[in-house]
This record gives sequence, C-alpha cells and structure tokens, in this order.
Amino acid sequence: MVLATHSGLKAATSPFSLDAEAEYDRWRADKLRHYPSSIEALIVEIRDPMTLQPAEHDAIVSRIRRANMAIYAAPAALGENKAVPRELGRQFGLTHLDGNLLADDDAISSLTVANGAPRRDFIPYTNSAIKWHTDGYYNPPENRVQAMVLHCVRPALQGGANQLLDHEMAYLLIREHEPEYIRALMAPDVMTIPARAEDAGIARPAQAGPVFSVTPEGRLHMRYTARTKSIEWKDDALTKAAVAFLEALLASDLPYIFRGRLEAGQGLICNNVLHDRSGFKDDEARPRLLYRARYHERIAGS
Ligand SMILES: [Fe+2]
Repeated sequence: MVLATHSGLKAATSPFSLDAEAEYDRWRADKLRHYPSSIEALIVEIRDPMTLQPAEHDAIVSRIRRANMAIYAAPAALGENKAVPRELGRQFGLTHLDGNLLADDDAISSLTVANGAPRRDFIPYTNSAIKWHTDGYYNPPENRVQAMVLHCVRPALQGGANQLLDHEMAYLLIREHEPEYIRALMAPDVMTIPARAEDAGIARPAQAGPVFSVTPEGRLHMRYTARTKSIEWKDDALTKAAVAFLEALLASDLPYIFRGRLEAGQGLICNNVLHDRSGFKDDEARPRLLYRARYHERIAGS
C-alpha cells in the first residue's frame, strides 16, 4: 500500500495497518480494557458549553480517547443558539466546518422536519429512521468528515433515538473475525456513491473510496452507509462477505453499541462514529430541532 509521503512512518506503524501486528495487538488490548461499559459512562454534565471548565473539558476528552465519543449535558434552557455547538467545538480544536448543499449559510445544519423542497427530499429533514452510517460518506478523501457535534435543542415528542458504535470497535471486531475482510474494506474502490444529477446539472460526481482508511496521522477513518439505494459495492465474494458481516454486527445486541436519545441541551461530540436514528413523531407546536456541525479535523487531544 502506498502511504502518505512525509508522515508515511506514522501511517505505516499505525495499529490500523494490517501489517502492523504488534502495534495492533497492543492497541487492541488497550481498547478493550478502556472501552466504556455503558452509555452513562459517556455523559459529562457541563454548566456552560460556551466556556467549559478545565475539568469538564478533560472529562470529555478522556471519554473521546476511549470511545471516540462523549455526550455532554448542558442546561436545557440554552434554547435556539447555534453558537453553542460552534463554540463548544472550537474548544476542542474543531474549526474547519464541512459545508454541504443543505447546510445553512454558516455550515451548521438545522435538522428539523422540512415541508419545502429541496430539504424534504432528504431523509435527515424528515421524521423517518436513518440507517447506520458515518457522516459525509460521500465526501472526497480531501474533505473527510473526521468529527461531528450534534446538539439537541428540542427532542421529538416520541422517538428520534440514536444507536452509536465507535468505528474503531467495528474495525476491531471485523479484524478479529477475518483480517481479509479489513483488506477488502480498505480497497480504494470498495464503495462507490453514484453521481447525483440535479436540475442544474450534476451536483456531485461519483465518489469511489474505501470504507476504512488510515489518515496521514495514523488514525482510522470510516466511510459507510447501510443504505442500499444510491450505493454500489464492489462486486466480489470477499467484499460481499465483509459487508454482510458488518451489517450483522450492527444489527446485533453487541454490548459495545450504545443506545439513547439526546434531550434538550445535550449533545454528542465525536470523531465521526457510526450512528443511526430511529423514526420519530413531532409535537407540531414544538418540532424536533438538532444542530449538526461536521468538521474536517479530529477532536484535539483524542
Ligand atoms: Fe449522521
């Protein structure tokens, strides 16, 4: 495999390289020893997300180091204020927001049920369930989404819960079972998102890429969607078996999968872990509203 030039050494000795068995064994033991045993262990109460206390900041980073994610619980009274996710992210070195066609002008998306085009044609802006995925799976490698903040202003009347799985844990479980599956999922052409044509022409060219990749810093990135529409998997037996194994993992009751719902004032801050969303029912007068900020860098210190 050709690795990045100036930081190739780091990538070559990354535990996520299939050749680095000793590094992997050490990393694996460490990961399993420190992985949180419940979603409660991910929660950090904070007083003011705009100005975290050092102890609050440290508590969040230590959870992200173990599971690539933490859930902060701030006072519900914060209300509709996009500065909350933006300023919170900034305190973890997150400044490069990923713009997308449907984000608001400030690149932070307001996820709520939309009645008008074009948003209502996209699942995040409906009350439907969303299958397992990582964010930005259709982005090109130079715009990888590496971190995300999902802040809840108002939960739904019913539903709208998430399942969460650290993508490193998904990697570990697959590699334990069959390292060749990891090799298949690291192929640069394993998963292709076809071009999306829109009225004004092609909005997004076809995007082929790996599921798992190692960043120049030696960290693991995952690109995945369980959608079956608008996605093309490489057509060979090993890829099919690897994808089926991953799907089965995500459909299982693994203790590593966390389940919960963000309530008002709470948020998920993560290194783009695997997640889904259940369908929900709104209170029409107080519809569900979550802010979503996606970033091109990982959370500092994690
Ligand atoms: Fe998402």
